[in-house]
Amino acid sequence: MSAGAPTASINKIGKSTVPRTAICTSDEHSITVRGEDLCRDLIGQISFTDYFSLLVTGERPTRADAAVLDATLVAIAEHGLVPSVQASRMTYAAAPDALQGAVAAGILGCGSVILGASETAGRLFTEVDEEAKAGADLEAAARTVVARWRAAGKPIPGYGHPLHKDRDPRVARLFAVALEAGTSLRFVEIAEMVEQVIPEIVGKELRLNVSAAIPAVLLGTSFPLRGLRGVPILARTAGLIAHLCEEAVTPSGFALSYQATREVIYEGKPAAAKEGAA
Ligand code: COA
Repeated sequence: MSAGAPTASINKIGKSTVPRTAICTSDEHSITVRGEDLCRDLIGQISFTDYFSLLVTGERPTRADAAVLDATLVAIAEHGLVPSVQASRMTYAAAPDALQGAVAAGILGCGSVILGASETAGRLFTEVDEEAKAGADLEAAARTVVARWRAAGKPIPGYGHPLHKDRDPRVARLFAVALEAGTSLRFVEIAEMVEQVIPEIVGKELRLNVSAAIPAVLLGTSFPLRGLRGVPILARTAGLIAHLCEEAVTPSGFALSYQATREVIYEGKPAAAKEGAA
């Protein structure tokens, strides 16, 4: 598989006329989610993390898998006035009547550079795993895949951080949770091997960040690769709602906007002088 290639099947427009879902159905008196009665079996009976896992995978998670998923959600929910929060608070300041718009503004930037890199890192680790399964030892597999991503001009997702230049402190904690839970550490091993080979290939010491730790622990559970970006999206939504509740009583949105414009340097051309003007 090429670096970061999509795994979804091609949607043949017009070939299927019947919508299908295995997630939920309802009638006048009941709602069934993944084969369980929502009101009888789930509400008040299941934690939200277990429910998230049930929704995504179709099965209730084991206790170990749930502990790891829960830890990743806690790890990525909040990190101060980071770009997603700034976008959200500034949007709310401009449109306080649309909380949903402000949450969406914060989540829109959950991509491969910040916040959403856990899925991209998961794809990198899966490539290393496949390379190793094809016969290479783990170090050679990591070297091959990292070199391939660099040759394609891509940053190595999940490595480097603007603040945490040594390993992001969340990494060790997430690895400890996985170890304690007893889930597979195969992708933790891969993540550490990638970190080890980066200096000779990239020419820089880039340490693991939380966006690598999340797939490293979750790929050792039943949580699927294709759901990985949903983890920071779901978790950060909780953080954003907290920021917007605070924004409503202690506004910072326009202060952030002021800070951004205060030192801005205009590098464009000056407006052309109007003919005949004094
Ligand atoms: N892969 C390749 N090169 C990287 C890199 C990566 N993951 N992270 C940093 N670098 C390079 C930078 O391009 C820079 O190169 P330069 O000196 O030639 O300009 C150098 O290493 C130092 O970068 P630094 O200033 O420490 O980081 P930054 O603040 O510019 O970038 C990130 C921070 C997070 C944007 C960057 O590390 C990155 O893109 N990481 C991958 C995506 C990711 O993991 N995001 C989640 C963050 S929690």
